[in-house]
Amino acid sequence: MDTYTSRHRYGVSALLRLLALSSLLVGTLCEELASTHHTIEVSSLIPSVSCKTSSSKGSGKASSLKVAHKHGPCAAEGRLAAGGVQQPAHDEILREDQSRVEIINSRLVQRTASLVGPNRVRQSVADLPAKSGKTVGSGNYVVTVGLGTPKEDLTLIFDTGSDITWTQCKPCVRYCYQQRDPIFDPSASTSYLNISCTSASCSRLATATGNIPGCSSSTCVYGIQYGDRSFSVGFFGKEKLTITPTDTFDSFMFGCGQNNQGLFGSSAGLLGLGRDTLSIVEQTAAKYGRYFSYCLPSSTASTGYLTFGRPSTYNGHFGRTSVFPVSLKFTPLSTLSQSGTFYGITIQAVYVGGKKLSIPSSTFSNAPSIIDSGTVITRLPPTVYTALRDAFKQEMTKYPTAPALSILDTCYDFSNYTTVDIPKVGFSFAGDVYIDLHSVGIMYTASTSQVCLAFAANGVDADVLIYGNVQQLKFEIVYDVGAMKLGFAPDGCA
Ligand SMILES: *[C@@H]1O[C@H](CO)[C@@H](O)[C@H](O)[C@H]1NC(C)=O
Ligand SMILES: *[C@@H]1O[C@H](CO)[C@@H](O)[C@H](O)[C@H]1NC(C)=O
Repeated sequence: MDTYTSRHRYGVSALLRLLALSSLLVGTLCEELASTHHTIEVSSLIPSVSCKTSSSKGSGKASSLKVAHKHGPCAAEGRLAAGGVQQPAHDEILREDQSRVEIINSRLVQRTASLVGPNRVRQSVADLPAKSGKTVGSGNYVVTVGLGTPKEDLTLIFDTGSDITWTQCKPCVRYCYQQRDPIFDPSASTSYLNISCTSASCSRLATATGNIPGCSSSTCVYGIQYGDRSFSVGFFGKEKLTITPTDTFDSFMFGCGQNNQGLFGSSAGLLGLGRDTLSIVEQTAAKYGRYFSYCLPSSTASTGYLTFGRPSTYNGHFGRTSVFPVSLKFTPLSTLSQSGTFYGITIQAVYVGGKKLSIPSSTFSNAPSIIDSGTVITRLPPTVYTALRDAFKQEMTKYPTAPALSILDTCYDFSNYTTVDIPKVGFSFAGDVYIDLHSVGIMYTASTSQVCLAFAANGVDADVLIYGNVQQLKFEIVYDVGAMKLGFAPDGCA
């Protein structure tokens, strides 16, 4: 009996041990896969053609504006008859993106002839004078603000890579492109004022636009030129700006564009969120304390937000409240000596599938690094990109490859799959900040048969590392410019 019991006991416990061990093994394997890979439904890669307004956190805040993709159905929401949204080809979007990157490089990196490759695009950028008067391209996300008295709603591209805000203005002395909103008419507003050529604000245009302002019958004339030959020229004026019904700013300085041409979609102009004194961040500093945050939606068919000011219940003396995301982590922001517009960041490492890529830390410190809302694809030093791509490819060997898409050279054909597993990609920033990108921040989808790794290499390691907007998708990104820090919270919007 004893023997039986004891044998029985051994048997059961061995079985239990075996069961425990196997469930442990299965558990560990699943957890390991979940912690190193994303499982994606292939059908979710293609955005819906109609706008699904998300009830994202930011939309409830007092100073929050709804953010939509320039080319998506949400930008047209309630403003355009059906069928009016034109989606440009992906290679066109990526070509525009490359021209923005070339201009950022020409502003931030001193090039010598030896650094310039045989590529003619690079050559022409390298040939630009250091202060060429050109500013970067125009970005891809729009918000709607009010201007004038009575207020007119205007849909503007928002851009952390440029400073002045402008909109097309009647009488469009030279040219206005077709926009979705009615064109702003300063003569119909009781609060519009021209800024005179002799005012100090007029001379500040030189650093904000890179061009010396002009003068027309004593009215200050601004001119801003973008990398892709887009431009806006017009009168520099003051007007009442309405962010929300309770947040209005008298005497907001903006460009009243009389000659506007280029790739602005059907937006009414541009909202400049850069660091120069004429940007909206500086002009609203007394109320918002140089604090703003945004969340870029994961799909062109959903919306995010742009919020000005700290969350209202945040109290600096008593710490965080529930409104302030607990998961928010801050890394220091830096100033780049070459330009007062951009937001400098410090990247320390990149991770693929949970493993840190082995890259000398000098590779990161040798490249100026910025975060930009208007650059689509993150640009990495070639040394970093090659390591990332190789590690990524190693985890993706079971999927058939697809042709390159413009600047994206690592593409897959997922058309025969319902779900795919892709390795996670993470970044660590100065200040002990680690973020795991959402799956939408890793792959760029042209179609289910061409889904590409959403990173690209710069020409040389010394070029500007640009943390682009695909990698920012779904994060709430907080710019606390007063304290010179940048925050990331992973679940900002849908
Ligand atoms: C602003 O200045 C321009 C150029 O001098 C002039 O044509 C326009 O009428 C002025 N607008 C106002 C409201 O003063
Ligand atoms: C998808 O499956 C079909 C049928 O089995 C096959 O002919 C085709 O080559 C596959 N496509 C890819 C990209 O693997």
